[in-house]
Amino acid sequence: MKRAYDEAYRRSIEDPAGYWGELAEAMAWTKRWDRVFDTSASPATHWFVGAETNTCWNAVDRHVEAGRGAQPAIVWESPITGASRIITFAELKKQVATFAGVLRKHNVVKGDRVLIYMSAVPEAIVAMLACARIGAIHSVVFGGFAAAEVAKRLDDATPRLVVATSCGIEPGRIIAYMPILEESFRLAGHEPEGVIVLQREQQTAELKAGRDHDWNEEMAAAKAVDWVPVAATDPLYILYTSGTTGKPKGVVRDNGGHMVAMHWSMKGVYDLDPGDVWWAASDIGWVVGHSYMVYAPLLHGNTTVMFEGKPVGTPDAGVFWRVIADHGVKALFTAPTAFRAIKKEDPKGEWIGKYDLSKFVTLFLAGERADPDTVQWAERMLDRPVVDHWWQTETGWAMAGNCLGLGRFPIKHGSPTKPVPGYAIEILGEDGKKLPDGTIGDVCVKLPLPPSGLATLWNNRQGFIDSYMADHPGYYKTGDAGYFDEDGYIYIMGRTDDLINVAGHRLSTGGMEEILSKHQDVAECAVIGVHDDLKGQVPVGFMVLKAGVNRPNEEIVKEVVQMVRDEIGAVASFRQATVVHRLPKTRSGKILRRTMRQLADGETFAMPPTIDDPAILEEIGTALKPLGYAKG
Ligand code: COA
Ligand code: AMP
Repeated sequence: MKRAYDEAYRRSIEDPAGYWGELAEAMAWTKRWDRVFDTSASPATHWFVGAETNTCWNAVDRHVEAGRGAQPAIVWESPITGASRIITFAELKKQVATFAGVLRKHNVVKGDRVLIYMSAVPEAIVAMLACARIGAIHSVVFGGFAAAEVAKRLDDATPRLVVATSCGIEPGRIIAYMPILEESFRLAGHEPEGVIVLQREQQTAELKAGRDHDWNEEMAAAKAVDWVPVAATDPLYILYTSGTTGKPKGVVRDNGGHMVAMHWSMKGVYDLDPGDVWWAASDIGWVVGHSYMVYAPLLHGNTTVMFEGKPVGTPDAGVFWRVIADHGVKALFTAPTAFRAIKKEDPKGEWIGKYDLSKFVTLFLAGERADPDTVQWAERMLDRPVVDHWWQTETGWAMAGNCLGLGRFPIKHGSPTKPVPGYAIEILGEDGKKLPDGTIGDVCVKLPLPPSGLATLWNNRQGFIDSYMADHPGYYKTGDAGYFDEDGYIYIMGRTDDLINVAGHRLSTGGMEEILSKHQDVAECAVIGVHDDLKGQVPVGFMVLKAGVNRPNEEIVKEVVQMVRDEIGAVASFRQATVVHRLPKTRSGKILRRTMRQLADGETFAMPPTIDDPAILEEIGTALKPLGYAKG
């Protein structure tokens, strides 16, 4: 069957300038581009060079001017606090313009960085858009990160201002954000000039005179300001993501290319029309939150649902269906882990039948491998297409998917379907040669990366080249391993580096190892991601103690668990570690983490020929059994 996809994909690869140039016409620009894309700073690709625009103007003001002012822009549902709110595009414009005035009053100018550390409230979206309005660069930090992680981002982005909520709200506990920020300022040695604090009634913060300012008071006193034109290539935001070490990578996203890709994807990938209600159940601290809670739906004139709660327990496993029914949500996008949580609580889908889901058309999954069991369960329960798609912080949108706006392909479980227009995906071997169908290798994208692809890493162009572009010249290396089948469907099998995916959150085991090594009794260590039925993966640590240490192992384990919680945050879900006499290594001293993971997951594996001493694996297996692993 012929689909619009085939022609769109062919053209996007053969004539990227023509393809994206036409799609860019849907956006408003104050100055047209000189070139659709430019590779003179190769391996970076710059899109819409010479053009000027404003992302906030396109996402907010443009819709009010076009008569969408009364349409809800944001539906906020907070089952964890029992609150909800609807904000129209006209109201959003007012709030964003006023908060832009607050930023201006605090001397934030174009190019300045603003760090946002907020729970899931609409004001977080307002703060992001207000930065975009005046050309400031926002850097949102996920609320589950501890002070040391916030400090790394402060150090690198050196924001002039911080915008925060007084607290975050998790089931059964409230997390005061100001002490975390205070500690992060101390650790970073960079204190912003000001902190704007949105006081939440669940726990207010004490404000430090001269530095901290109350959001509401500032808003009441501020004058609304208009958007300013920025270069299409100017940064819109920096979003830090886990790399292979403890130092996060600051992915830099531009304004113009990002805007065009976001806008196109709402129809092309998700098949939504302006006015439709859309829900990405994520957090603005992650790329899914940036792209699909904020920018893409608003740029496309959709209503976006912002959800402060969990798929289960706030108050029950029916909350997703209740929100979908109440607001007529047409499509939901979440991580498979959310569905595993629902399936565990409500295996027969009894909650689903209690709500009117007649407007609900499609479920989209991404963020981690969509295991066929979960996908099939969701299909059976919902009787709707369940569409997996694959992407990363670095790209900001899907690299592979079943592009519903271009004609749906039959779904093959375990595959996110086909490359999305713009992405010339190839599977390469270690020698850089293209591998035949069915053979696993490095999943790479032939340059240029399409619009929205990272322009560089903040303050670290060399890191950008080394991490992504150096291994396979002329290609962007995704860091995932995968293969194509004979029908051109792609399969993403896991990372080729030390990143793991815990409940859809991307984390660095290397970063955790750095923390464990700091413990006074630890001589060396390894952290691996092992299979978990709910979260997909969870980290497990192995420690070899220094000679002469004779404290109980349990005490040391407890301490390192706390250290990871204190330094990375609760989100790391690091709860398990064990003491061993030695770590399995190659004869050249490389720790065999992959073999350890296979052993833990009960997979059959071939003994690595370079292993120094196979007997060590037996001890690792014995240490894993009491933790519930290595059952194979
Ligand atoms: N602020 C502070 N702490 C946070 C937080 C936040 N924004 N988000 C999570 N945490 C904490 C949790 O409270 C938990 O703390 P605990 O160790 O004291 O229990 C810890 O971080 C781990 O959180 P999480 O991995 O989310 O586990 P969970 O058991 O709380 O919930 C799920 C499990 C599956 C329900 C949950 O991960 C979920 O809803 N996932 C949906 C998918 C998603 O949002 N993915 C994001 C990328 S698309
Ligand atoms: P993040 O940058 O946090 O979005 O994490 C990106 C990583 O998550 C990818 O490199 C993959 O390893 C993994 N990932 C995201 N979506 C999928 C998917 N649909 N299938 C398999 N892995 C995925």
